[in-house]
This record gives sequence, C-alpha cells and structure tokens, in this order.
Amino acid sequence: MGPLLLTSRAKEICETLVASMYVLGSRALSILGNFLICNRIQKVFLPANCCPVVYALLGSLDIKVQTLDLTPNLRNLNMRPLKNFLAKNSNEVTALLLAHTYGALSDFNESNTRWLRTAGLTYIIDDRCLCIPKFENFWADLTLFSFGYSKFIQLNQSGAVAFVKKPSTYKRLSWKYNKKSYEVVDQALRRHHNPYTVGKNIGNLSWVSNEEEKLNLSVDWILKTIPILVEQTLEKKIILNTIYRGQLGSETEIDILDDRFNFWRFNILIDDSALVLKKIFNAGLFASDHYRTYDRSCQISTDLSKNVINLFNGMTQTKEFCLACCDIILKGTKGEKASKVI
Ligand SMILES: Cc1ncc(COP(=O)(O)O)c(C=O)c1O
Repeated sequence: MGPLLLTSRAKEICETLVASMYVLGSRALSILGNFLICNRIQKVFLPANCCPVVYALLGSLDIKVQTLDLTPNLRNLNMRPLKNFLAKNSNEVTALLLAHTYGALSDFNESNTRWLRTAGLTYIIDDRCLCIPKFENFWADLTLFSFGYSKFIQLNQSGAVAFVKKPSTYKRLSWKYNKKSYEVVDQALRRHHNPYTVGKNIGNLSWVSNEEEKLNLSVDWILKTIPILVEQTLEKKIILNTIYRGQLGSETEIDILDDRFNFWRFNILIDDSALVLKKIFNAGLFASDHYRTYDRSCQISTDLSKNVINLFNGMTQTKEFCLACCDIILKGTKGEKASKVI
C-alpha cells in the first residue's frame, strides 16, 4: 500500500471509530432511556429545575431520584445530598445527571468530579440539550444533545445525538411507541402534574418515541451541518438579545441573567412574572415560564422558576416581536397599560 492509500485508510478507520462513539436517537430521552436501562442505574441525582420530561422518564423506569438545588450563581449544583448519600456506602448503581440551567455550561469537569467517582458515584451524564451544541470537551460517560422541540437548534424532524465514552455502556433497545401515551403524558405535564408521578403512572416507555429508523439524519450530517446552523443561529440571537438588553437593561424592577444564560432564550427575573406573562399572551405574543421545581426544599430553583420569564430569541422571531414584548413587560412591571402590540 502506498503512503497516500495508507493515510486515507487511517482516516477511514479513525472516522469509523469516532462514529461508533456517537449514537443517534429520535429523542434525547430515548438515548437516555437506553443508557439508564443498559447500565441498570437505580438512582439518579439531578437538578431540581431539570426538564419535566426527564423526571417523567425516570418515573416510567421506576428509578429513584434525588433533586439537587442550584447554587446561588445558578450554574452549579449543591452536591451535599449526593455527598451524604455516597458517605453511606450504598451499593446502588447511581448516576449524576448534569443539566445546565438555560444552557449555561456548569463548571463541572473530569477533574473536579473525580472525588465523586472515588466516593462511589457510578456514572455521570452531561445533558447538554439546552446548550449551544458544540461537539467537544466530552468528559462524562454520556454527553447528550437534542435537536427537538424548543432546543437551541430545532430540526423539523427532531433528533438527538450523544457521545458515549465506553461503547460497552450503550445499546439501542426497542420498545413500542404509542402516540396516545405520549399525548397523555404531554397533557398531564402541561397541567403541571408532578412529572415523576406522571411517568410512574404510565409505568413504561411507550410515550417516548424511539423510531430512529424514521430519521433522515446521520451522525456525519450532524457533525458537519450543526456547527454551520449554530453560527447562523448565534448571529440572530445576538441581534435579538441586544434589543432585549437595550430595552430592559436599565429598569430597576427587572434583573437580566448574565449573557451565558441567554443563548437558549433571553431570561429576565421580575416579581410578578405570572401576571406579566399573562399580559404578553393577552396581546397575542408569547414567552415562557420555565420548568417548575417540584421539590420545595430546593429554594433557589423554586425562586428561579417563580420569577423568570424566558423571552424568545430564535430564528423565527423578529425585531418587532421583541420590541412589542419589551413594551408589555415595561408597562406591566409599572402597572401601566401596554401601548404597542404587533
Ligand atoms: C435538559 C433536557 N434534557 C433532555 C430533554 C429531552 O429532549 P428530547 O425532547 O430530545 O427528548 C430536554 C427537553 O427539553 C431537556 O431540556
């Protein structure tokens, strides 16, 4: 074999190796479900403000959960309950699921979590579903990305990809997807029923789509195309965030989270977020309140979910939309009637 052929063969082997570490899924939840089942995980520690569908998945699999509160800077987690648990030397197979509040990457990494492994934590899952999808710095056992509904990059057909550190820890399992079960779960979560209980009542994964074969996606396509979409999306978000910050930044009644929290959506904290949200909807506009905390002992997460408004800054929002939302928020926080609607 000539040197040129050898180089291209080496490249091919390398690509195959990289591709085998990545796994595709129709949802991040289906990949997470496969990982939890394959590794017989019995207890998961996760942020109190994690997405309700993750709690529902854990309920469906009858996996025990322990919520962790956010630290005051909102980026990290209070590890005390996990530390106390590990000190008891339990034999349970455990996992820490690190979800990142509003996509702001936490400070956790391989070296500052080493003590958790030494103390007996079995797996770490880095759930980057709300983060800017960058395929780098993989240090956890499973690193999850999603391109589904309301993610940083939302593809029409959804889809998810994950990086698995050890291929032996992952296998795609099959279960039957039932749209009716999905609707039952979706409706219950919209009505803010406790998500863990909702999942537990269903008792299986029939509500989680696992139809990877219907996806028209490949790992190769994702690794090449998502970085381009990320650049385009970031450009738009920076423009809309500048409008939101310009309009709302000088108001004393409004706190704006620091920039690292504002790439998924633009997040503000106000006292009466429920009333202002109602006014936004009444004007034919939209925004969201984000993920309730069901464990009232987690005070920081509870306060965050009570006060936050997530303002949309995606590819389909316009400058006029942002200005109209700001007008309502400004008047709403002062108890005045809004003047502009679009
Ligand atoms: C942190 C987090 N993980 C996982 C998921 C589930 O992603 P998917 O809809 O691709 O299953 C979500 C959904 O919003 C999420 O916010």
